[in-house]
Amino acid sequence: MTQRTLVLLKPDAVKRGQAGEIIRRIEAKGYALVALELRSATPEVLAEHYAEHEGKPFYQPLVDFMLSGPVVAIVLEGERCIEGFRSLAGATDPTVAAPGTVRGDLGRDWGLKVQQNLVHGSDSPESAEREIAIWFPHL
Ligand code: RTP
Ligand code: MG
Repeated sequence: MTQRTLVLLKPDAVKRGQAGEIIRRIEAKGYALVALELRSATPEVLAEHYAEHEGKPFYQPLVDFMLSGPVVAIVLEGERCIEGFRSLAGATDPTVAAPGTVRGDLGRDWGLKVQQNLVHGSDSPESAEREIAIWFPHL
């Protein structure tokens, strides 16, 4: 089934000059780029995007991190790309993410545990639809 998913290259990916490498991996995998934009997140957008995490101990540090620099917001399209991108991204904690994945190859713990893990990818068709509407309302 052809799907769309929302991917964010987080501020650590942009700051460290890894945006190109991550996009290269997405293209090498064969997913189509439907939308791609460098932009600054806002507290409003992040409150919507991370609504499911509100109240958790890592919520405010996560929002502050996401506001610490520009992000690259991307919509991908392809067969099972929601699952496929999560597989490319690897486990949430970059210290234990498998080698070969974005987080496993390019990420590590910089002292903030699992927060700086380079990428976000929608985790279900419902999340993808919701998140694409937040970041790219015209799509
Ligand atoms: P994402 O949403 O970014 O694709 O990552 P995910 O599904 O693998 O992880 P999720 O549980 O949705 O958490 C969202 C982001 O919050 C930060 N986080 N910090 N214990 C912690 O300090 C903690 N847990 C999660 C990470 O940046 C994670 O990607
Ligand atoms: Mg998530």
